[in-house]
Amino acid sequence: MRPSREAIHGQWSSRWAFVLAATGSAVGLGNIWKFPYITGEHGGGAFVLIYLACIVLIGIPIMMAEIMLGRRGRRSPINTMRHLAQEEGRHGFWRYLGWMGILAGFLILSYYSVIAGWALAYLVRTGSGVFTGLTADGVNNIFYSLVADPERLLAWHTLFMVMTMVVVARGVRSGLERAVRYLMPLLLVLLLVLVGYSMNTGAFQQALVFLFSPDFSKLSPNSVLIAMGHAFFTLSLGMGAIMVYGSYLPRHVSITRATFTIAGADTLVALLAGMAIFPIVFANGLTPGAGPGLIFQTLPIAFGRMPGGEFFGALFFLLLIFAAWTSAISLIEPLVAYLVENMRMSRVMAATLAGMVTWLFGLGTIFSFNIWSGDRYKLFGLTFFDLLDYLTVNIMLPLGGLLIAVFAVWAMRRESSVSELGIGDGRLYRAWRFVTRYITPVAVSLIFLHAIGVL
Ligand code: PHE
Repeated sequence: MRPSREAIHGQWSSRWAFVLAATGSAVGLGNIWKFPYITGEHGGGAFVLIYLACIVLIGIPIMMAEIMLGRRGRRSPINTMRHLAQEEGRHGFWRYLGWMGILAGFLILSYYSVIAGWALAYLVRTGSGVFTGLTADGVNNIFYSLVADPERLLAWHTLFMVMTMVVVARGVRSGLERAVRYLMPLLLVLLLVLVGYSMNTGAFQQALVFLFSPDFSKLSPNSVLIAMGHAFFTLSLGMGAIMVYGSYLPRHVSITRATFTIAGADTLVALLAGMAIFPIVFANGLTPGAGPGLIFQTLPIAFGRMPGGEFFGALFFLLLIFAAWTSAISLIEPLVAYLVENMRMSRVMAATLAGMVTWLFGLGTIFSFNIWSGDRYKLFGLTFFDLLDYLTVNIMLPLGGLLIAVFAVWAMRRESSVSELGIGDGRLYRAWRFVTRYITPVAVSLIFLHAIGVL
């Protein structure tokens, strides 16, 4: 047996700590903000079914591969890939996979933080009763006046980045682990409270039918690809977040069991978010296909009308902030780990530097909604924010995930993956290897070709 290495950044104290942290990474704006609105746009049940199939066929095999590479490399994604390529006798080129992941995480966080900032702003607004009795127009005005004001967006973006940096600076044990240990279970409780509320809106049945009774006539070929892309984003795959968390995983922990738990929890939260949101949407006569503004422009109408809306509204946005916070931590962790390893920085220094550069880049997203929103500032008709989102989610994550799968089952020796996965060489291992070798790369290639416009 190979000697077990420990990452210089420390290790998770237990399997449970890793599962919580990785679930914290996976569950974020993707589940609570994005999943409901794209489900709404793509007609509900059939889309949900395809998304679930993608979680199983793409998400789970790649997550196993990504955790496996992280634990075997025991370093930040760049050094992990460099080291593993060397160990497997492959080209040093593979380390650029790590670089791309670090870059993707940095770019995603720069806009993720701005949107999480909206949630902070809405926590204050719902909690103070700003939406009480407002019409849809009134709620829209509040949203537009928020995004039109760069100073306010900057203030909330700054607060969110500081929150993220403080936790990252404190390190794996005392920072990340403590944060997720309390935030994740609380998140689930808050979500269940909201679902409990929604069961009494009178439209729960309608929401269940919408979410779980598939009508395939509502699906376009595009919907299938969007469902696949979302499976990627929601599980935090393809950019090294799960890889770097895997590098802090003790050797005896079962990667398979952890993966199924994380993917299951992520899916559960997305479905619970849907079950919390759609009854409110239907009970208030709102449209499910409202688009990206669904929660910020539509839910406050419902919160403004329902009894106890200030409380439930504040609770909802608090939940969204917690979810975004634990995802943001993982988006920047690969970069921070790299700075600590290669630049000999302290964690505090690395987190501060990484956070400040990300914060600065976030200005581009802030301006996309106001002073840079005009055509003059667009490229291919897209704002800076749209471009970033497109580049990262549609190109960088699928490419990163594809390469992770390819490395794990084509470049790596079979014995290496058998030994690291620790499930023996039986039927489960062979099923994983087959899916990751053939099915996953083809599926991800389809997403990728779609994203660059070939399909
Ligand atoms: N999975 C997170 C979400 O659903 C986003 C994320 C993507 C986090 C990639 C880390 C890495 O919001």
